[in-house]
Amino acid sequence: MDSNRLVVYYSRGGVTRQVAEMVAARLKCEVEGIQDVRSRRGLFGWLRSGREAVRRELPAIRPTLKDPGEYELVVLGSPVWAGTVASPLRTYIAQNQGRFKRIAVFATCGGVDADRALQEIAELCGQRPLATRAFRNREVRAGTFASTVEEFAAAI
Ligand SMILES: Cc1cc2nc3c(=O)[nH]c(=O)nc-3n(C[C@H](O)[C@H](O)[C@H](O)COP(=O)(O)O)c2cc1C
Repeated sequence: MDSNRLVVYYSRGGVTRQVAEMVAARLKCEVEGIQDVRSRRGLFGWLRSGREAVRRELPAIRPTLKDPGEYELVVLGSPVWAGTVASPLRTYIAQNQGRFKRIAVFATCGGVDADRALQEIAELCGQRPLATRAFRNREVRAGTFASTVEEFAAAI
């Protein structure tokens, strides 16, 4: 087990979790999922999520277990919401400001516009990521994303 690296992700629907778990398996490191305090299920959860992302709000999240400051590299993963980072990951980054030594970032999306989300995560952390990668939710659901994980992991 590589104790110098950590994968941290948020996932509402399971797609980002799948990628995070495969990245962690490839890097042989631990993985931590950010948990909501308030459920985002259903149409109202979807609408609230989009609104929070647009307004750059910081919703409450459950306390996380691992201190990112103890790792040489933290891989951050988020779904794209309204073209930007998912609000729970925004909260996590705000709560751990200044604690990231090096980061790598991935995002999962339905369309093709993950670039802005990837860039915003880097800006929130105040540093240039070692590697960035976008995953289409379709390739993740189809189970055809192993080679993309491999490319991403190889760049770290
Ligand atoms: C509130 C909300 C807003 C979204 N906005 C976008 C978007 O702007 N662009 C995009 O490509 N996908 C968008 N999506 C799709 C998700 O990014 C995509 O399905 C992602 O893989 C979901 O990850 P998850 O299953 O880990 O939650 C949105 C999804 C939600 C729930």
